Amino acid sequence: MKKRLLFLGPPGAGKGTQADILCKTNGLLHLSTGDLLRAEVSAGSALGQQAELIMNKGELVSDSIVLSIVEKKLDGQDQGWLLDGFPRNLQQAESLQPLLEKIGQSIELVLLIELDNQILIERLLSRGRSDDNEGVIRHRLEVYREKTAPLIEHYSHQGLLKIIQGDATIDVVANRIEAALN
Ligand code: AP5
Repeated sequence: MKKRLLFLGPPGAGKGTQADILCKTNGLLHLSTGDLLRAEVSAGSALGQQAELIMNKGELVSDSIVLSIVEKKLDGQDQGWLLDGFPRNLQQAESLQPLLEKIGQSIELVLLIELDNQILIERLLSRGRSDDNEGVIRHRLEVYREKTAPLIEHYSHQGLLKIIQGDATIDVVANRIEAALN
């Protein structure tokens, strides 16, 4: 089974939900940059205060902040990992490469979870996180299209990409993902 993984997909596609299930079932480290940044916000750290304003606008936090968080977490991980919400643009993907080379590991599979915008927006509005109001959601979708979606081509070109349809129940999507790992 592949155990060095990356999830791509628009906000609300189900990346966090599926990452929790997959990592618990398979003993992988779930590395969500969104969760790590929200933990900094809750702790009221200087980094969290800086990140909160940006996150509530639906913009991307600076690459250097995110990279330093990821580097600390990945160091020494040999049981496998799932990157969720990172990399978020081509620059982050390029910065990840030397970091992985340093620890002698590489991405084995990139899973793109696809879902229609209408369903994404409904799901996010009913979740109600501080960045889940309609204006910010639409902006997050634009940021996704402009900055993150180019990663689809980037990883497809490397032969690493598989597409998962996210328009089903949580269990059905989880089964689709498990089937893609072998
Ligand atoms: P992040 O936390 O990564 O948020 P996101 O990408 O916008 O993704 P979401 O958490 O909104 O959606 P998801 O796909 O994980 O779906 P979920 O499983 O939660 O990033 C937030 C912010 O942090 C960014 O905007 C940015 O500012 C900053 N940031 C993070 N990483 C960064 C980086 N690398 N660089 C720079 N900035 C960064 O599901 C959504 C809802 O749907 C939930 O309520 C869930 O219960 C429900 N649901 C899930 N699956 C199903 C299903 N199959 N059926 C019905 N409901 C479902």
